[in-house]
Amino acid sequence: MPTLAELEREALACTRCPLSGGRTQVVFGVGNPDADLMFVGEAPGREEDLKGEPFVGRSGKLLDKLVLEEMGLTREQFYIANVLKCRPPNNRDPLPDEITACRPFLEEQVKVIGAKVIVTLGNFATKLLLNTTEGITKVRGRTYPYGVATLVPTYHPSAALQGGGTEVLARMRADLVRAKQALPA
Ligand code: URA
Repeated sequence: MPTLAELEREALACTRCPLSGGRTQVVFGVGNPDADLMFVGEAPGREEDLKGEPFVGRSGKLLDKLVLEEMGLTREQFYIANVLKCRPPNNRDPLPDEITACRPFLEEQVKVIGAKVIVTLGNFATKLLLNTTEGITKVRGRTYPYGVATLVPTYHPSAALQGGGTEVLARMRADLVRAKQALPA
């Protein structure tokens, strides 16, 4: 198995898809490499592309707040990465070819980190890891086995920011409580 540092070095030089031509920085992932908890988002946005770090914009601030309030955890205590490591132009949805090109990085990250609980944020991460075409609203609200780990699907924080409002937030909070309960004591 490669180390996380080796994987990151490979990702930083990646030209497997055309998104590499438009990036400022590769956004590989950050956090505790031995974490019990891992979050998987969709793709870097503008601020992430500039900083080289996932979830540093508005969605990230909301996520940090919810995770602290419902799970009592901060960034240093979990790991966070995206399905795509490079920003799609104007934050458009990831294309199937981009996901296919990038997914080996995420799959290796998941293996190397070996988290006990994986929380997928939104449709792209959830559909990829659960290998389903069902949407997030349908699949959330319960846990799924993922190898030896437990997978907890929830909304992407941008769904709460873009009009989902209190209902989406309440469901996200409930999903995070579910994730907390699935963590080892
Ligand atoms: N949205 C994502 O899915 N990932 C990020 O890193 C930022 C916003």
